[in-house]
Amino acid sequence: MIDSQVIEEIKSRNDIVDVISSYVVLKRAGSNMQGLCPFHSEKSPSFTVFTGTQGYYCFGCGAGGDVITFVRQVENLDYVSSLEFLAKRAGVTIPEDKGRREKSGFDRNRMFEMNRDAARFFRESLFNEQIGGEALSYLKRRGLDAATVKRFGIGYSPNDFSALTKHMRALGYSEEELIAGFLCGRSQKYGTLFDYFRNRVMFPIIDVSGNVIAFGGRVMDDSQPKYLNSSDTPVFKKSRNLFALNFARVACSEELILCEGYMDVIALHAAGFTNAVATLGTAITPEQARIMSRYTKKVLISYDSDAAGQKAANRAIGILGEVGLDVRVLKIKDAKDPDEYIKKFGADSFSNDILAASRGKFEYNMDSVLARHNILIPDEKIKACNELCAMISDIYSSAEREVYISAVSDKLGIPKDSIRADINRILKKKKNDFKKQESQKIIRQSAGFGDRVNPDYAKNIAAAKAEESVLGMLLLYPEHRKSVLEGKCELNEKDFFTEFGKRVFTSLIATAQNGNFETGLLGEFFTPEEQGRIMRMQLSRSQLSDNGADAFNESIRALKRETAFSDSEDSVDNILDIIKNKRNNT
Ligand code: CTP
Ligand code: MN
Repeated sequence: MIDSQVIEEIKSRNDIVDVISSYVVLKRAGSNMQGLCPFHSEKSPSFTVFTGTQGYYCFGCGAGGDVITFVRQVENLDYVSSLEFLAKRAGVTIPEDKGRREKSGFDRNRMFEMNRDAARFFRESLFNEQIGGEALSYLKRRGLDAATVKRFGIGYSPNDFSALTKHMRALGYSEEELIAGFLCGRSQKYGTLFDYFRNRVMFPIIDVSGNVIAFGGRVMDDSQPKYLNSSDTPVFKKSRNLFALNFARVACSEELILCEGYMDVIALHAAGFTNAVATLGTAITPEQARIMSRYTKKVLISYDSDAAGQKAANRAIGILGEVGLDVRVLKIKDAKDPDEYIKKFGADSFSNDILAASRGKFEYNMDSVLARHNILIPDEKIKACNELCAMISDIYSSAEREVYISAVSDKLGIPKDSIRADINRILKKKKNDFKKQESQKIIRQSAGFGDRVNPDYAKNIAAAKAEESVLGMLLLYPEHRKSVLEGKCELNEKDFFTEFGKRVFTSLIATAQNGNFETGLLGEFFTPEEQGRIMRMQLSRSQLSDNGADAFNESIRALKRETAFSDSEDSVDNILDIIKNKRNNT
C-alpha cells in the first residue's frame, strides 16, 4: 500500500486541469471547466472539472472521481499503476515497498524488460543463419529490406518447444512471469512450460513509450492459424493498442492511415508512408479510435479490397466518426491489400492514385448504394434514393446535407426539392422518436433500473436515496465523520440498505480512522465506475444548502426507517415491531 502522504503529494503536484487538458479540450464555465466527455460520445459538453475540489464528473455518463480515477479510466490502469503514472509525470518518487508489488501482482517495468529480452532473442534467432535462415529469406521474398526488418524489430521464433523458455529461465524470469506475459504456456500433460510462438516470423508490438508489450507471429507457409497474437496480459490490451503507433505518432499530425494487417503497415512505412498503423487482429474498437483522435484529426481507412474488408471499413467509419475524426476511405484497386498494391504499382501510384482519390464517408457510402442498385429500374432507383436520404438525415450540419442533396440529385436525376422534402420528413420523425426515448430513459433511470454499479438500488428506492444522502454528507463533512467515529451518532454497516452503500460506508470509516480523509483515497477500494457514483453522491449533496447536524441526523433516521421496513418482509414479528416503532416515532 502506498502511504497516504505520498498519495497527497502526487495529487498536489498533478493539477487535475493540467492532467485532463492533455486529453480533453476544456473551456472555462463559471468557476469550473467543461469539455466533451472522453468516456462517452457526446456533442455538447457535460464533462465538468471542478477546479476547487480537484474532481471531475460527467453529467452525461456518470463518470467521475479525482485525478487518479481519471488516469485509471483514460489510461486503463489499475490504482497503483495510475499513481505511478502520475508520480512519474510530476517527478515524485514513490518509496519502494516490497509488499506493494506483490499485492498488485506484477511489476510493469519487469514485464517490459522481459518482453524486450524475448524480442532480442527472436531477433538473434532470425539473424542466426542456421536457425533463422529460412525466415530471413521469407522476409526478403516479401520485399522487406534489412533496414525495415531492423526498424520494426522483426524476429523469428525457433521451431522448438523450449528454446525461448530455456533462454528466459536462464535470464531469471519465473515460470509465472513467462505465463502471465503470454510467452509460454504450461503443458497439461507434463506440467512443464512450452514456447507459445514456434517457427513464426515475430512482430513485436511496441507502445508509444517504446516498451515491447506483445507479439504477433506469422507462419511462413499456409498452415493455420496464419497469425498468432499475444492475448491480453497485464501490460497489453489488444483493444487499446495500435501496431506501429510508436512510429506513426511523429508523422501523423495531418492524417493517419489505418490498415488491417502488420504487413500492410510495414510495406507502407518502407515506402515512405510512416503514418500508417493497424489494429491487432481485431476490428477497430472505440478505445483505439479515441487514441487516434489524440494524435490526429483525420484517418484514412485503407482496408483490404475484399468483402470482409469493406464490411470492416463500414464499421470503422462509424466508430472513428463517433470520436470526431474526419474519416476518409481509400479504394485499393487491382490488389487485395495495400501491401500487394505497393508491390505491384509502387509508392508514387499509391500516393497519386489511391491517397488522392480518397472518399469521404458519404461519397463512400453513396458509391456502395449505387453499386447495389441498378438505377435504370424505377423500383431500384426509389430504393437507392430512400437509402441515400436516410444517410443524409444522419448528418448533423445542414450545409453538409445540402452538398449531398445536390450530389444525389445529380446521380439519380431527381429534383433537389423532392429529396430535401423527404429528408426533412425523416428528420422530424427522428426528433419525435428521440424525445420519446429520452423520457423513457429518464423514467427508467429515476426508478434505478439497470443500475450496474448499485444493482440493489431499485429494490427500495426510498432507502437507497436516504443512504446516498447519509453517505454524501459523510463524504463531504469531517464533522459528520467525526461524530460517527466517536460514536456520537449511532450508525453502522447494518443500517445501510444496498451492498454498495455498505461498502462505501465501511471503507470510508476505515480510511477516516487512519487520519486525513479525502474521497480520492477510496480509489484503492473501488472501480472508476463506482467512484463516479461516489462522486455523484457527494455532488448532489453539496448542491443542497442544509447539510448540518440536524440534516445529517434526519437522514440517518430516514435511512433506518426505510431499511427496517425493507428487512421486515419475511417476518411477521418484525412488521409488528415496525408498526409499533412507527407509532412511537410519530
Ligand atoms: N490476423 C490475425 N489472425 C489470423 C489472421 C489475421 O490476427 N489468423 C490479423 C493480423 O493482424 C493480420 C490482419 O489480421 O495482419 C490481416 O489479416 P490478413 O489480411 O489475412 O493478413 P495480412 O496482413 O495481409 O498478412 P499477409 O500479407 O502476411 O498474408
Ligand atoms: Mn497481406
